[in-house]
Amino acid sequence: MLELGTVLLGLAALAVSQDTPPSTYPHNYTGIPATGYGPEWQHYFEVTEPLPNVTVPLPRNYAGSLSVNRAGHANDTLFFWGFEKEEGSLAAEAGERSDEPWLIWLNGGPGASSFLGFFAENGPLHITNTYSIVPNNYSWNKLADAFWVDQPVGTGFSTADATGYIPDEDQMGQDFLGFLTNLVKVFPSLAERPFYLTGESYAGTYIPYIVKAIFSTPNPPVKLAKFAIGDGATAALSVFEMLPMLSVIETYPQLIGYDPEVYEYFKTQTHLCGYDLNLTYPETAHFPTIPVNWGSIADASAFAERSRGGYSKSVFKNTLVSKVKQQQEAGQLLAARDLETREERKMAWKRDLTGRVNGTIDPYYGCDLLDFVIDYALNYSFPWEGGDFNGFDVYFVPDALDPEAPLDPTIFFNDNRTRAAVHAPTSQDWAEQINYPFNSTYDYTFPDGGVNEFGDPSVEPMAFLSELATNASLHNVSMIFYSGNADMLVAHLGTEVTIQNTTWGGIQGFTRKPDTPWYDDTGKFAGIVHQERNLTYVLFNGAGHEVPEYEPATAYVFLREFVLGSNTTGLVESSGNGTVTVVGGEDHVFDNDIMSAASDAIYYGSATTVSSYVPASATVAAWDSFIATAITTASAAVSTVA
Ligand SMILES: *[C@@H]1O[C@H](CO)[C@@H](O)[C@H](O)[C@H]1NC(C)=O
Ligand SMILES: *[C@@H]1O[C@H](CO)[C@@H](O)[C@H](O)[C@H]1NC(C)=O
Ligand SMILES: *[C@@H]1O[C@H](CO)[C@@H](O)[C@H](O)[C@H]1NC(C)=O
Ligand SMILES: *[C@@H]1O[C@H](CO)[C@@H](O)[C@H](O)[C@H]1NC(C)=O
Ligand SMILES: *[C@@H]1O[C@H](CO)[C@@H](O)[C@H](O)[C@H]1NC(C)=O
Ligand SMILES: *[C@@H]1O[C@H](CO)[C@@H](O)[C@H](O)[C@H]1NC(C)=O
Ligand SMILES: *[C@@H]1O[C@H](CO)[C@@H](O)[C@H](O)[C@H]1NC(C)=O
Ligand SMILES: *[C@@H]1O[C@H](CO)[C@@H](O)[C@H](O)[C@H]1NC(C)=O
Ligand SMILES: *[C@@H]1O[C@H](CO)[C@@H](O)[C@H](O)[C@H]1NC(C)=O
Ligand SMILES: *[C@@H]1O[C@H](CO)[C@@H](O)[C@H](O)[C@H]1NC(C)=O
Ligand SMILES: *[C@@H]1O[C@H](CO)[C@@H](O)[C@H](O)[C@H]1NC(C)=O
Ligand SMILES: *[C@@H]1O[C@H](CO)[C@@H](O)[C@H](O)[C@H]1NC(C)=O
Repeated sequence: MLELGTVLLGLAALAVSQDTPPSTYPHNYTGIPATGYGPEWQHYFEVTEPLPNVTVPLPRNYAGSLSVNRAGHANDTLFFWGFEKEEGSLAAEAGERSDEPWLIWLNGGPGASSFLGFFAENGPLHITNTYSIVPNNYSWNKLADAFWVDQPVGTGFSTADATGYIPDEDQMGQDFLGFLTNLVKVFPSLAERPFYLTGESYAGTYIPYIVKAIFSTPNPPVKLAKFAIGDGATAALSVFEMLPMLSVIETYPQLIGYDPEVYEYFKTQTHLCGYDLNLTYPETAHFPTIPVNWGSIADASAFAERSRGGYSKSVFKNTLVSKVKQQQEAGQLLAARDLETREERKMAWKRDLTGRVNGTIDPYYGCDLLDFVIDYALNYSFPWEGGDFNGFDVYFVPDALDPEAPLDPTIFFNDNRTRAAVHAPTSQDWAEQINYPFNSTYDYTFPDGGVNEFGDPSVEPMAFLSELATNASLHNVSMIFYSGNADMLVAHLGTEVTIQNTTWGGIQGFTRKPDTPWYDDTGKFAGIVHQERNLTYVLFNGAGHEVPEYEPATAYVFLREFVLGSNTTGLVESSGNGTVTVVGGEDHVFDNDIMSAASDAIYYGSATTVSSYVPASATVAAWDSFIATAITTASAAVSTVA
């Protein structure tokens, strides 16, 4: 999605204290049909007025609000903007173009608008850091009719009455089904065409619940073909956000200044926290639940602050920022200005470390290793800067710019010309992200109230993923999980754990370690891909959390080949005589679950005066030789089917 790091610059200023969420409703523009939803609504939804700052012609597109059909909540709607792949493809009649795919893209949050993805990732228009708007050559609607949808109700331009915000993810799934039911009434060909549900981040929670709702419906409104989850929050917070930290350090030793001693320290913490799962291919038993151990960081007012309510722009990062700030205020971090040099700070930290916490779980951070590593980098590692979270980008590790360049379509969306053209509500302003009020309340208790960090009371999809995946096989629905190698917030190892902890086709996890390289259309190394029993895993080299933002051309090839297509690269095949082969081969580039970025540059300075820190080759070489031995211990436990 759009760089949420940027978004956070205005965080504190934008927080508005509010106890009940707003009551919002769709706007009826001139020409709204008086009849129930049907193809005659296409004329109403078609975007025909000029859009401010858009100077390029767009394919025919449609936008507006559609009811979610929730009883007692007539104002609960989802806002969509859909683009034709080619002239007439969306206007097709029932039964036409029945082989042609269509897709929906969802961003996460929870409470983030999918138009962040539209404008920064895979939409036909991209916003620049000067707020101008340019075409995106790699828009996903070039490959399929594509919709960007704000959801759950109340997010972005989607509306909800004050008591109509979703109480949980099952209601979210039902709302989405209601929306789909109405969408296919307006665009009847979609009912029969293969449907691809795609999204990222907290959509890793939404998508499994939507798929569950589809599988639970006797006559679903759409024909789901595949779903694809990028950098998804599908497992528990401990697994997707904290467990992978050592692997992030192994990928980017820049974070710890290539310091073996610090590495060993975090390795010890990782072990003490039970994060050092040893993946085997296939697995023999499900991993036990890994509880979140916050240490006293959980007492920090960050959580209490959030429950006081009100809107914030990025929940996903909001909490983190608060936590880091809280520690600084409490004097628990060494303030940058108090020490002459980073080297001195580093030594001080080490003294503190050896005297106090090695061998036991750090009492302050607990097992919140994400915050621990960020704090370390901000305070001790060049070129990150202490004191301001904006110098750290959990979504893309190599970005230490402070401030980052804005990529913010708020002005565009709230301009009356845009609003009228896309038939948006007038009862609310579009916001990049809201602090989502589950069950229409901002009050919840965390961490002990049976809800997650975001106030979502629903169990994480990992709990039912094996059942879902088994149903997916029965329904001929394929599954894709993909990750950007430079994402620190939902780092890829958590996704690999999620896959290895899932049983489908009667086997738990993949039977071989993902190790097959793939390449984009220019022949550039794109990462690795692995496919078994209709589950595909793709790791993108060089991409952050918002994969199509950082690697747009590669993401486009991925959509074409692996999502919409059935490219077999990385597919494990067994021949009748028992020989197992992998299409495209295995080159062991990924044997340690790490795609090293140890020699990559880190960017710092401001967005207009970018400097880059390129590690010395001797530093990288010394690290490489250290880590080769350091990781071997763990990988000795890795077994693969021969
Ligand atoms: C908008 O139109 C719908 C019918 O399409 C109607 O039910 C609703 O009352 C109208 N709302 C307003 C505010 O006029
Ligand atoms: C987009 O494609 C056009 C036409 O092929 C090309 O001229 C332009 O340079 C491309 N823009 C980018 C940003 O790649
Ligand atoms: C729905 O919105 C209309 C305004 O269009 C408002 O009059 C009505 O009270 C709202 N309904 C609810 C349940 O909030
Ligand atoms: C939502 O809140 C209502 C009270 O407003 C309560 O009765 C209901 O149990 C809550 N639902 C969930 C899922 O928390
Ligand atoms: C922490 O303790 C482990 C053994 O428990 C040791 O291997 C490691 O070197 C220690 N790390 C530091 C930074 O002292
Ligand atoms: C994984 O293997 C290492 C090395 O054998 C071991 O120390 C560690 O306890 C194992 N992890 C778990 C969760 O069993
Ligand atoms: C593994 O999956 C089971 C459900 O099958 C779940 O209860 C457990 O929490 C998961 N473990 C991890 C580490 O995700
Ligand atoms: C249009 O772009 C200019 C910069 O080129 C920007 O200042 C302005 O805010 C934008 N307006 C809208 C409505 O997006
Ligand atoms: C935009 O529309 C709203 C109401 O729809 C109105 O209050 C406001 O003045 C308009 N703004 C501009 C700049 O025209
Ligand atoms: C599958 O995708 C790979 C990677 O993009 C590409 O090199 C290859 O040509 C594709 N295979 C087929 C059969 O299209
Ligand atoms: C994978 O999906 C294809 C097409 O839906 C189906 O023919 C095949 O049986 C599936 N394979 C497995 C192992 O489920
Ligand atoms: C098994 O079959 C594959 C082709 O399907 C062949 O390449 C391989 O040599 C065979 N192996 C043995 C041991 O027969």
